[in-house]
Amino acid sequence: MIRQPIVSVLGHVDHGKTTLLDKIRGTSVARREAGAITQHIGATEVPIDAIYKICGKLINKKFKVPGLLFIDTPGHEAFTTLRARGGALADLAVLVIDINEGIMPQTVESINILKRYKTPFVIAANKIDLIYGWKNCKDEPFIFAIQKQKEEVQQSVDEKIYKIVEKLYELGFSADRYDRIADFTQNLAIIPMSAKLGIGIADLLLVLVGLAQRFLEENLKTEEGPGEGTVLEVKEERGLGKTIDVILYSGTMRKGDTIVVGSHDEPIITKIKAILKPKPLDEMRDPRDRFLSVDEVHAAAGIKIAAPNLENALAGSPVIVADDNLEEVVNRVRKE
Ligand code: GTP
Ligand code: MG
Repeated sequence: MIRQPIVSVLGHVDHGKTTLLDKIRGTSVARREAGAITQHIGATEVPIDAIYKICGKLINKKFKVPGLLFIDTPGHEAFTTLRARGGALADLAVLVIDINEGIMPQTVESINILKRYKTPFVIAANKIDLIYGWKNCKDEPFIFAIQKQKEEVQQSVDEKIYKIVEKLYELGFSADRYDRIADFTQNLAIIPMSAKLGIGIADLLLVLVGLAQRFLEENLKTEEGPGEGTVLEVKEERGLGKTIDVILYSGTMRKGDTIVVGSHDEPIITKIKAILKPKPLDEMRDPRDRFLSVDEVHAAAGIKIAAPNLENALAGSPVIVADDNLEEVVNRVRKE
């Protein structure tokens, strides 16, 4: 079994990260079909069946990866630590760049994070619909939409991509439009898209599953074992007290498990009281009743954990299940 890769979405403020994830969610939520996309805490799961459906005739083979788990990050310059955390967790990343604005300070910062963790990534060159003369083409793959554009528009898409390619070259990367790349190990793929109109979403998902399949299979093998995750946020919840939002990247977590959580000082040792997931929208009768409690969860997943003594839990730190190796786990958490 291999788990779904964790895909972080990074980039400069307002370049379209959240719109991209909303669009991916929206396309399938609207359809309400089997294999639909599910919302996690702090993450969005796109199962492989949903990817086959969105990609349609772009995909002509089967993949072993069971899907993709996307994590959004904020682009505002104040949120460097959240971006770094998203980068550290990621098996793969999407760097969103506004094609009309090009590479900006937090784009460079994101690239440096990805370099530091050696995370493979692709570039979503977003907002192509704002290029002068662009003809709508809602929800179409980029490779079909581009053929329907006037010659001048096709040229301006390429000019804007070329500017990004030049900047990336200065930063040490060889990049090209994804449909012109023969060897994805040597070149960074640029997928022109419009998150707003849904253009290029299919192409992006296709390149991501392709990369995951080719380069990550070994890293994604799941072992049945004690759960390990990272705290994304520490949050007060009505009726639950302080909770932690966690991305579980390995193993299993169960209700009642002893966990060790990083804190401002000594690691916290506590017991999981509840594992919570977002309730599907159609089951949410009362807006205060937002969570569904589950007995266990397997990687990769985004969950909320309720447990005593989480007041000093520290965002960005590890959460690890311990049994008879408690001391060893505490030492590990202390060091990380
Ligand atoms: P931060 O989280 O603040 O870093 O921003 P973000 O990258 O998540 O950007 P967001 O998705 O919030 O989009 C910012 C603005 O750009 C919104 O007004 C979106 O509607 C708009 N936008 C996003 N994608 C597109 C696109 O493809 N085309 C157009 N025309 N507008 C877009
Ligand atoms: Mg956003």
